[in-house]
Amino acid sequence: MTHTFRTSLLASELRERPVVGPDTVVLGIETSCDETAASLVMGGNDVLSSVVSSQIDLHAQYGGVVPEIASRAHLETLNPVIARAIVEAGIDESRIEAVAVTIGPGLIGALLVGVSAAKALSVAWNKPLVGVNHLEAHLYAAFIEDPSLELPLVVLLVSGGHTMLVEMVDHGRYRLLGQTVDDAAGEAFDKVARFLGLGYPGGPLIDHEATLGDPTAIRFPRAMLHDGLNFSFSGLKTSVVNHIRQHPDASTADVAASFQQAVVDVLVAKTVRAADQIGARGIVLGGGVSANSQLRTAFQQAGHDAGIRSFLPTMAMCTDNAAMIASAGWYRLRSDGPTSLSAPASPNLRLPLLGAG
Ligand code: KG4
Ligand code: ZN
Repeated sequence: MTHTFRTSLLASELRERPVVGPDTVVLGIETSCDETAASLVMGGNDVLSSVVSSQIDLHAQYGGVVPEIASRAHLETLNPVIARAIVEAGIDESRIEAVAVTIGPGLIGALLVGVSAAKALSVAWNKPLVGVNHLEAHLYAAFIEDPSLELPLVVLLVSGGHTMLVEMVDHGRYRLLGQTVDDAAGEAFDKVARFLGLGYPGGPLIDHEATLGDPTAIRFPRAMLHDGLNFSFSGLKTSVVNHIRQHPDASTADVAASFQQAVVDVLVAKTVRAADQIGARGIVLGGGVSANSQLRTAFQQAGHDAGIRSFLPTMAMCTDNAAMIASAGWYRLRSDGPTSLSAPASPNLRLPLLGAG
């Protein structure tokens, strides 16, 4: 009884908007998939610490992320990861002004570990909670590393679950320009890698294999290349499978390089077209697939050729981390104030889009 009263009292206290400024330190927590991460970020982009514990080795033997194993590993690892982030930041935990956590999209069991921990800390420290959309956080990765980026920007958000072209009109204001109509780019990398027997996770393994092959060896289809800003990758995946069935002796490196080139060509061409259409000040990469070396080279070259500024996050900022959560949390806290302590984890959360109710 007493406990319930105390929690609701805190929730009402914390709805008051705190002052959010350049000195405001936010703890970010990320547990949406297979990385357990915590980070302290000051003023939205000054990263004081960023700790990431990857579960890749735990899932590799199953060829993909096993949700139950992910949740258990987050439970075991999260507290030490948070403790390390605070120690590495070199500041007292009393300096933390808010607790930001990924509330979705992601695996429900995995998300719940982070959300529960963040709520507990929010109550224990009497500091506001900020629920962060994981996709929005990927958009913020670029701002952490280059706060001078000018809006509007076109962001190519390419991860294991999403492939989107987003116009960042302003902080927190996004317009969807295009998206995949079937598989996400990362999903295509993972499926083709599995078919080629390269293992998991597929993206980095194809990336490496491709360095040994000829990207012009096989002319795989570039679906919808001249047709709008949407993407389709499932036909490409089928083409790769058919090619290997018809040519069992084909070089794995050539197939990997040619597949990768087909994905990169479409992603880059559509990003530049989108930037041209909206008169963007720059183009930015985000999400796990932005670690791809061929995509990075082609993206930068295309920006240069089109006379438009391009920005590539560092490798550490491409894949899942908590610095991007703390950063997006700082901006959300400033614009919207704290999130209710009763907010649920939302496995199917979408990017908040302008004009989308
Ligand atoms: O953003 P992320 O870490 O997790 C999600 O939110 O999905 O993205 C993971 C995806 C996986 O599909 C992985 O294969 C892909 O990013 N990926 C890559 C590379 N590194 C990671 N894809 C292509 N090339 C890479 N070097
Ligand atoms: Zn991600």
